[in-house]
Amino acid sequence: MAKPKVLVTRRWPAAVEAQLSEAFDAVLNTGDKPLTEDELRAAMTSYDAVLPTVTDKISAKAFDMAKPQARILANYGVGYSHIDMHGAAGHGMTVTNTPDVLSECTADIAMTLLLMVARRAGEGERELRAGEWTGWRPTHLVGTKVSGKTLGIVGFGRIGQEMARRAHHGFGMKIVVQNRSRVSPDILARYNATQADSLEELMPQCDFVSLHCPGGAANRHLINTRMLNLMKPDAFLINTARGEVIDELALSRALWFETIGGAGLDVFDGEPRINPDLLDCENLVMLPHLGSATREAREAMGFRVLDNLTDFFAGREPRDRVM
Ligand code: DGY
Repeated sequence: MAKPKVLVTRRWPAAVEAQLSEAFDAVLNTGDKPLTEDELRAAMTSYDAVLPTVTDKISAKAFDMAKPQARILANYGVGYSHIDMHGAAGHGMTVTNTPDVLSECTADIAMTLLLMVARRAGEGERELRAGEWTGWRPTHLVGTKVSGKTLGIVGFGRIGQEMARRAHHGFGMKIVVQNRSRVSPDILARYNATQADSLEELMPQCDFVSLHCPGGAANRHLINTRMLNLMKPDAFLINTARGEVIDELALSRALWFETIGGAGLDVFDGEPRINPDLLDCENLVMLPHLGSATREAREAMGFRVLDNLTDFFAGREPRDRVM
């Protein structure tokens, strides 16, 4: 029997590409050039599976076709707000993602940003590299202590819980969470956490707020001027979720006028384009979407896609089916 034809939209770790090529009739993107929307639509008409990732915007328009050949979009990544789920549903397509395997590494990056912005590490590094460091002094780049402070976690799924583990057990932080549904008392008890009923209730209590909710239309600009105004004037905002969750114009104003203490961002609205207003904010640390960027996580994500595809084409339920 012919092997299913699968298209991988970006370069993946070599070990995963090798196994994919063995198991499937796989076309790899050796040039690692992102596909256009037209190319993605064409791919869905000529491959049995398309393996997209966060850089592939598969909007409603991309699904505008009579009948796709592809029956599954096996996404490389946990977030899938770049895929129009109505469009996929309209063609009865299966969509899978890669949860769990990147939770620890993404929480590590959230903690990295939190520490960097609180301790002014970005400013310090820029100063040093610019040859402007004049030496130790008691008042130089004085930051904010992290240990023992209150951390608000918005979205208490797997990554949010890993963040809570690090912050509570590593830094003795008090944890307050906000989540769409009620979190079970057992889970809250692991981090001695409390659940706020709303974002309005959470924001004013926190010294740090870290976002771990899904992106997409439902959470677009969840953090807007009104929410930023509810934060303590010296509090810090961390985002490793999706760029669209924050209204970046509102954030740049809050940073510029110092109505909050600072922010750490790993994701951006419309990335890799960066809103120029953000670039001038000294009290902002930015990373280029590195949340899952470890050898271990990126390989595990690839193998998780492979498992999902193997199950799907063998007629079994893929473990990470989201639609
Ligand atoms: C994810 O998994 O959603 C990351 O943001 C990109 O892989």
